[in-house]
Amino acid sequence: MILLNASHFVGKGLHRECYRHPDDTQLCVKVVVAGDLSESKREQSYYKLLQKRDICWDILPRFHGLIETNMGTGAVFDLIRDYDEEVSKTLAHYLSYEQLAASENAGLSQAITVFKQELHRQAIITMTISPKNIMYKKTSANSGRLIIIDNIGNSDFIPICSYVTYLAKKKIARKLLRFEDTVLKMCGHNKALSKHLLSEFRA
Ligand SMILES: Nc1ncnc2c1ncn2[C@@H]1O[C@H](COP(=O)(O)OP(=O)(O)OP(=O)(O)O)[C@@H](O)[C@H]1O
Ligand SMILES: [Mg+2]
Repeated sequence: MILLNASHFVGKGLHRECYRHPDDTQLCVKVVVAGDLSESKREQSYYKLLQKRDICWDILPRFHGLIETNMGTGAVFDLIRDYDEEVSKTLAHYLSYEQLAASENAGLSQAITVFKQELHRQAIITMTISPKNIMYKKTSANSGRLIIIDNIGNSDFIPICSYVTYLAKKKIARKLLRFEDTVLKMCGHNKALSKHLLSEFRA
């Protein structure tokens, strides 16, 4: 059993809290703090499918199994960090809160384009694709890539899309259109970034 405390805290959503793994700087541990375990169970079963498919893990953190903690059972994932070792921030953060340097806009919009292509190419199914569930991993001051950390898998009653690539890709294309709208709305105040994104999305 590992002991988590406030000094390990990384971030939280509505259901889970994320902590740095006390014994491994490359990992994080997520514990459920509200609601039941059904979301986490669905995520884990979709991860099993992806592990069997042997995907390349460039847009998803790897899942390293479950571990007992003082806060209940935790799920262990790669901790997403920037080139300077800081824990990465969410795409939502970069779109809405931070005044991006003009030099960062091109890298961010390119990362969004690559992410969209890869999600579709690798046929990774997600529920709503939200900027708060995507990390922007900076690989240099002005470039980076996006990694989706939550809401992957299929909530359909009969999840046939998880097994039929053609159907999966149709579903993903629909979700990506909605994602584009969300992204544009969130960065509306940043005219330079909006312009970059519009030209990427219409390319
Ligand atoms: N692999 C990771 N690397 C770095 N930070 C992470 C990672 N996973 C989660 N986080 C941080 O923890 C926060 C909460 O994680 P997560 O989105 O999985 O929680 P959640 O409660 O399931 O979210 P939701 O409210 O969308 O249901 C994220 O917003 C992010 O800041
Ligand atoms: Mg979340």
